[in-house]
Amino acid sequence: MPAQKIIIAIDGYSSCGKSTLAKELAGQLEYNYIDSGAMYRAITLYFLRNHVDYSDPIKVLDAIANINISFIFNEQTHSSDLQLNDEDVAPYIRDMIVSEKVSEVAAIREVRSFAVAQQKRMGRKKGIVMDGRDIGTAVFPDAELKIFMTADPEVRVMRRFKEMYATNPHVTIDEVRHNLELRDYIDSTREESPLHQAPDALLLDNSGLTREEQLQIVLKWVKERNAPIRQGRD
Ligand code: DC
Repeated sequence: MPAQKIIIAIDGYSSCGKSTLAKELAGQLEYNYIDSGAMYRAITLYFLRNHVDYSDPIKVLDAIANINISFIFNEQTHSSDLQLNDEDVAPYIRDMIVSEKVSEVAAIREVRSFAVAQQKRMGRKKGIVMDGRDIGTAVFPDAELKIFMTADPEVRVMRRFKEMYATNPHVTIDEVRHNLELRDYIDSTREESPLHQAPDALLLDNSGLTREEQLQIVLKWVKERNAPIRQGRD
């Protein structure tokens, strides 16, 4: 049977290493990696910059009408670089000010409808790895491979702290811990598509795994689903 390109949906709590795994998978499989969280971050950045009162659904809809999110495929990284109204906003969307508000913005129904519609369109041709919170449950409920990632909370705090410290030496471990706990709480208790493991998602706890070990586990799952893996890996 010829190997088919599939959709790989990766969900899980904040800072579990979803994007690291997703990028490596996309590189190995020559798929396109889409970071769905970056869309919610870009929308949050737009709301903050334009002082949008996002407690008002009408103002949210007005603002969304002025937002264009596009992804430019990067051949080298096999990921797609996000642009907000033709601006590369990568340097800003991981700032603490955005991280503090993004879960509130991502809980807004109108925001989710806008982002999910675009995410579904990006999966039409398959050959995609997308990570987020509702990818296996709402965006691609028929994805051939669904992974739910988790890791020990303190491992996640330290990973995130190191990442943020590199660009902001003033950030503290307590600040990072508080932000992660709050986001996990909002993401998993919101009314609209809360974060939960899809019944058919495979659980991957990577607390004690190296990057290479987790990649090998997932490549085996991909192979079991009859998707092509580049030579040297299978
Ligand atoms: O993956 P991330 O930490 O960059 O995501 C930022 C926020 O966006 C996160 O707190 C929850 C939200 N999010 C979401 O609600 N649904 C997704 N598919 C991806 C992210």
